[in-house]
Amino acid sequence: MISSAAASPDPSAADLIPEFWEERYQTGSTRWDLGQPAPTFIHLLSEMGATNRIAPGRAIILGCGRGHDALWFARHGFEVTGVDYAPSAIAAAQASASAAGLSAIFLQRDIFDLLPAYRSRFDYVIEHTCFCAIAPHLRDRYVDLVHQLLRPGGQFIGIFFTHQRPGGPPYGVTPQAVQQFFSRRFLIHHLGPAPRSPLQRQGEEHLGIFGHQENPN
Ligand SMILES: C[S@@+](CC[C@H](N)C(=O)[O-])C[C@H]1O[C@@H](n2cnc3c(N)ncnc32)[C@H](O)[C@@H]1O
Repeated sequence: MISSAAASPDPSAADLIPEFWEERYQTGSTRWDLGQPAPTFIHLLSEMGATNRIAPGRAIILGCGRGHDALWFARHGFEVTGVDYAPSAIAAAQASASAAGLSAIFLQRDIFDLLPAYRSRFDYVIEHTCFCAIAPHLRDRYVDLVHQLLRPGGQFIGIFFTHQRPGGPPYGVTPQAVQQFFSRRFLIHHLGPAPRSPLQRQGEEHLGIFGHQENPN
């Protein structure tokens, strides 16, 4: 039995505008930023990739921040587009790509403005604390967005912050709620504790790998 979606208190949802995030980048208040790709994604490409049939393809990274994860996928042969609406994050991502000699596109854009231009364009939608960074009332819309960005048969790969503390961002979500939100449009291939989660996040992160369903019920 799947319990209903966690009802996070949402006091600051109206404040979640680009300026909110930009101010954090400018002041260095970016505790979410690991300064490297998520160890879960490192593990995913090195060890879990074959099992889950994750071959290089066209990928969009939503809420990409400074681009550490985007560039990890680019380094592994993915054709990457990173999207974030905080200008400083995008500038940092572009600078890192140049410094590393990696080819990736970084767009300073609200993820909810990607349609219709990017409809069905991607083999993968990837994220690391984007679903949990947006206001919780936008979660159904987010799932629809991910579905529409993917080509039929594409996959969503995401790391969710499954902490149970009130407030946010990041707004916690239970694995059961993740399953409930996404199973409306996706097949749940994998949903479990994130492997290689950083010490300070252990027990609070889940990895999801979901398959696009063309004609969901
Ligand atoms: C918690 S941070 C995570 C950043 C990155 N994924 C990481 O792990 O370092 C959330 C990011 O999502 C971005 N973001 C939030 N809502 C967004 C939206 N509607 N459109 C584009 N970017 C958004 C923020 O600017 C911020 O960089």
